[in-house]
Amino acid sequence: MMIIPRIWLCLLPLVIHILVVAAILTNTDDVSTLNALKSSWGNLPPNWLGADPCGSNWEGIRCSNSRVVSITLSGIGLTGSEFGDLGSFTELQHLDLSNNIGLKGTLPSSIGNLKNLTTLILVSCSFFGQIPDSIGSLQQLVFISLTSNSFNGPIPHSIGNLSKLSWLDLSYNKLTGTIPVSNGPLPGLDKLINAKHFHLSQNQLSGTIPPKLFSPNMKLIHVILDHNQLSGEIPQTLGRVQTLEVVRLDSNTLNGSVPDNLNNLTSLNELYLSNNNLTGPLPDLSGMNALYYLDMSNNSFDASEIPPWFSNLLSLTTLHMVNTTLQGPIPVNVFSLPQLETVELSNNNLNGTLDIGSSYPKNLTVDLQNNSIVDFEQKTNYNMKMVLTGNPICKGNEAKENYCIVENNNNPFLSSDNCPNVNCGSGKIQSPNCKCSHPQTGTLHFFSYSFSNFENLTYYRTLNGSLMTAFLTSGLPVDSVSVTDPTIDVYSYLKFRVQIFPSGQDTFNRTGNSDVGFLLNRQPFQFDYFGPFFYKADDYCCFGGSKKSSHTGIIVGVAVGASVFVVLLVCVAVYAFRQRSRANRATEKSNPFASWDRDKSGSVPQLKGARWLSFEEIQKCTHNFSDANSIGSGGYGKVYRGLLATRELVAIKRAQQGSLQGALEFKTEIELLSRIHHKNVVNLVGFCYEQGEQMLVYEYIPNGTLRESLSGKSGIQLNWMRRLNIALDAARGLAYLHELADPPIIHRDVKSNNILLDDNLNAKVADFGISKLLGDAGKGHVSTQVKGTMGYLDPEYYMTQQLTDRSDVYSYGVVLLELITARPPIERGKYIVRVVSEAMDDQKDSSKLDRVVDQILRPHRDPDGLLKFINLAMSCVRESAAERPSMGEVVREIENIIQMAGKVLTSSSSFEEGNQDIRNSNSYESYGWL
Ligand SMILES: *[C@@H]1O[C@H](CO)[C@@H](O)[C@H](O)[C@H]1NC(C)=O
Ligand SMILES: *[C@@H]1O[C@H](CO)[C@@H](O)[C@H](O)[C@H]1NC(C)=O
Repeated sequence: MMIIPRIWLCLLPLVIHILVVAAILTNTDDVSTLNALKSSWGNLPPNWLGADPCGSNWEGIRCSNSRVVSITLSGIGLTGSEFGDLGSFTELQHLDLSNNIGLKGTLPSSIGNLKNLTTLILVSCSFFGQIPDSIGSLQQLVFISLTSNSFNGPIPHSIGNLSKLSWLDLSYNKLTGTIPVSNGPLPGLDKLINAKHFHLSQNQLSGTIPPKLFSPNMKLIHVILDHNQLSGEIPQTLGRVQTLEVVRLDSNTLNGSVPDNLNNLTSLNELYLSNNNLTGPLPDLSGMNALYYLDMSNNSFDASEIPPWFSNLLSLTTLHMVNTTLQGPIPVNVFSLPQLETVELSNNNLNGTLDIGSSYPKNLTVDLQNNSIVDFEQKTNYNMKMVLTGNPICKGNEAKENYCIVENNNNPFLSSDNCPNVNCGSGKIQSPNCKCSHPQTGTLHFFSYSFSNFENLTYYRTLNGSLMTAFLTSGLPVDSVSVTDPTIDVYSYLKFRVQIFPSGQDTFNRTGNSDVGFLLNRQPFQFDYFGPFFYKADDYCCFGGSKKSSHTGIIVGVAVGASVFVVLLVCVAVYAFRQRSRANRATEKSNPFASWDRDKSGSVPQLKGARWLSFEEIQKCTHNFSDANSIGSGGYGKVYRGLLATRELVAIKRAQQGSLQGALEFKTEIELLSRIHHKNVVNLVGFCYEQGEQMLVYEYIPNGTLRESLSGKSGIQLNWMRRLNIALDAARGLAYLHELADPPIIHRDVKSNNILLDDNLNAKVADFGISKLLGDAGKGHVSTQVKGTMGYLDPEYYMTQQLTDRSDVYSYGVVLLELITARPPIERGKYIVRVVSEAMDDQKDSSKLDRVVDQILRPHRDPDGLLKFINLAMSCVRESAAERPSMGEVVREIENIIQMAGKVLTSSSSFEEGNQDIRNSNSYESYGWL
């Protein structure tokens, strides 16, 4: 009997799949459910026509393998009260119906059928009734936000079953009852050990904050429970969650004293305890090195002087201790904290003569109303906003002094003054880039923020820039953003009005509008200075028509391509999984390195080539980590150059405190890296794991990064042929990681800064700091926080959190565009992908393309090759991952281009120069053949 080779068994479903996919388009169940929605909801997109939603690109619907996987219909004025049909989309991964105030009804328990749902966003609709228990069946759920509805009744215990949940936001509802924790067979929120966000503020929750809710193995960063009716003491257990960054417990009825161990929260940035009935001594927070914002106002602490440890909080920008029975004089060093912006100590019993010293920061605001201060040392010579109204000093003659007058703060109004004064007409508004269009408008509600000086434009610029970067990185059609009118509402939430202007057209179509809303409420990013937020959009005036899809003709091809890819990935994943399970299952967690027999030479038999180096050896070869030997740094720590005793020149990556991994993870990384051997991938020479240090030692690559060369910083000039060779090398390195490494690896941070050039200008791919084994996931990995670098991030990954090797292809495509234009991916608010694609679209005007191509490639003697190269780059950065080529295909295409270029160039007699070794030359200029 003939034995069928295993590979064919694996490919059989593939063949069947292709046949099936080619025969039908959208899954008929999904079509009928969408049609049912059409008949029960109002204002669905007008292009929901025909029998093939996936093939004819219904707005708001995204498909994969003919199944509806994503429904994002945010802020398009939907109305409806029947939601039972939603439960039929069994392949649905993302559901965002936020900002449709006309959606009024209860969430049906059939929502529990959405077994593949990862993201559920219903911000600011009009849902009411209980959150169904069945929500606990959504095992894949990573993100849920039901903010700003009228849900009532208790928080279901079943939410505790959502083991992948990272973001839980139920704020601004009418939820009652206690915070559910596990109890016998009942699960509870304490089981959510992967959760980073508990946002339960602005409800009517009562009872105590259960001590069981928190445990040291949790990953919580935001605990936001303000404005409820929680009572009892703050649990001790809160102080054991070392990852916390924001804690808001304000405006409850908490009592008792603040647990001492809160002081262990060394990552905490913002702490709000105000408006409770807390008693006992003022807590000692001197350990909170990262604290920016502290509000303890309106509590009943024991009367006390201002504690001396205030002056240890070197990061503090904002201190609110209104009405907290503070007494005695104010120590002068309170005012000299370097970052301080606001000190508000009104309604206390502070007395004596006020002395602010002379080393207070610029633009400080100090509010000391209603105390017992009798004099002010610097009253004729101070430079800050000082309010002493309601103190003895402001009685009588001095009442007219500036410091006795309460001024209204004027918030700056930011608008672009750069634009000519034109009348846009028909309700359009001028964008900061001086284009007239209809912006989407709305309000950003920040749960927390780390500053209080609203006149400091840095904060607006940061917010503006971060939003814009997020839009550009996700490939959304946004021209520019304007944030204005900061206000702090009665709940001490910071609100900004925001205008988001469309790009390329006067108006957003429904897809663009919804994608903007989805990105803002899903926020796969964290902004500097700003905590988490939600976004309420206003009604949009005037949706543009959806663009006719240019892809219709190739849909079948794409679907087949995608399914081939999925099946191959599954094959790879199964294989990788087998390999992994075969590997040392019984590794001891306590000392994973114990099994590595470390002999004198430091070689570890399980590792191919990589050696165990002693701390001493590394210390010596880097001259005790001297600055002179430092060659770079990143989030993880510093990189040093060193010469080992073996005369090998190496680059040593030394993890700093805070980026150290667990021993087991570190060991896994070393094992992984030591298996990678390819001439276009930087080689791991060894590692050091000693004295609390984790270091990775790589071969040293002398000519720096590709970015340095492209920016002209390194002095190496890259002509056309060199650029092609670098592109080929990097592609080969990545193709090796994707297709040949065992297990396959997704790099996740491909960028020109991670492509290094050796003596001969061969390129090598570096830095697998955040690499992900492909075997970890079947059809793509869903992660809670997108990893990578802004400007290179695959928009599909960014929006969906689905990681595949095509995300690397995208980032690689951005690198190709850098090779073509020599510009960084985001420059002065312009995104390279868009710049080149606009230049390509304008075929009438070929000078446009000429202008984006790097000067030294102009005039190109190989126009065909250049055009092919640009087309290749554009295919790598296609929006849909399934339409991008594999790295293997990229390698072959570049080989073709190089072969062609070789012919063109030999016939014009200067081919050799392109490949010539530059080591022998001091004068790079002489090499430009173009
Ligand atoms: C001062 O704080 C106490 C709680 O300690 C509170 O009951 C009282 O209302 C507060 N006073 C003002 C004016 O807010
Ligand atoms: C504005 O804020 C930034 C960030 O906190 C700070 O570095 C800068 O010094 C501030 N500028 C002014 C003028 O206060």
